[in-house]
Amino acid sequence: MHRKKIHMMGLIGGLVMGGVVLASSASAETGPTAAMLANTCAGCHGTDGISGGPAMPTIAGFPANHVKTLMKEFKDGSRPSTIMGRLAKGYSDEEVALIADFFAKKKWASANSHANSKLATAIDPALATKGKKITADAKCDKCHEDDGKFQDENTPRVAGQWLDYLLFKMQDYKNAALKVPQEKKMEKAMEKLSAEDLTAIAHFYASKK
Ligand code: HEC
Ligand code: HEC
Repeated sequence: MHRKKIHMMGLIGGLVMGGVVLASSASAETGPTAAMLANTCAGCHGTDGISGGPAMPTIAGFPANHVKTLMKEFKDGSRPSTIMGRLAKGYSDEEVALIADFFAKKKWASANSHANSKLATAIDPALATKGKKITADAKCDKCHEDDGKFQDENTPRVAGQWLDYLLFKMQDYKNAALKVPQEKKMEKAMEKLSAEDLTAIAHFYASKK
């Protein structure tokens, strides 16, 4: 039994059952503005896409095409999710395009610089150092360059993302049954990593500003 292993899918699923209220998509006849639409995401992803953490990802500054792709995958079910699949169905392609542009213009803020963040104290410096070495050995920086700060239309920024989200996401990648879309090379590198390695990596990336 692996009772202690918390996977993101399970955790968020529990939150939903516990009564997370889904914001409904605004669709007034006049057509909602980008800000109105993006506001329906704020309950979970924070104002301007800067999440209050710890299991919700920050999405501020994601390239617009990245958000569009993710939303499309959530919508058609090719990307497994607890919440986003159902939610994405409530938005048209035009609305998603407005939302994606809105968040692309916002500035990323790292979790450990968040005003109410308890993250700074949650980081274990020894684990972060260990995580840095593991990512170097596994050559994660081939894609997650500059200690994970790099970001493009396919590769999410991992530096300064929320600790729990990073950990749950990596556990989900390693859970073959979930079939989370990912780079083949990344899948190979992740396969060799233990649960302890993933924890250390999460501390390393989350420690970055
Ligand atoms: C009820 C909470 C909730 C709301 C509201 C919500 N999200 Fe999410 N979002 C999540 C969760 C949880 C995840 C992780 C995937 C999952 O399990 O659904 C996520 C993941 C994402 C991701 C992927 C991030 C990554 O790093 O891969 C994007 C992009 C995203 N959401 C965009 C949006 C947009 C745009 C809206 C508004 C239209 C929105 N979300 C509204 C909870 C929410
Ligand atoms: C070949 C390029 C490549 C390599 C090498 C790589 N990654 Fe990734 N990584 C990606 C891409 C692309 C994604 C987005 C996958 C998706 O669509 O969910 C990603 C996503 C992630 C995420 C989730 C971020 C988020 O916000 O959803 C984490 C965490 C991560 N990688 C960690 C690692 C670690 C740790 C290693 C080394 C063991 C690694 N990656 C190696 C390309 C790579």
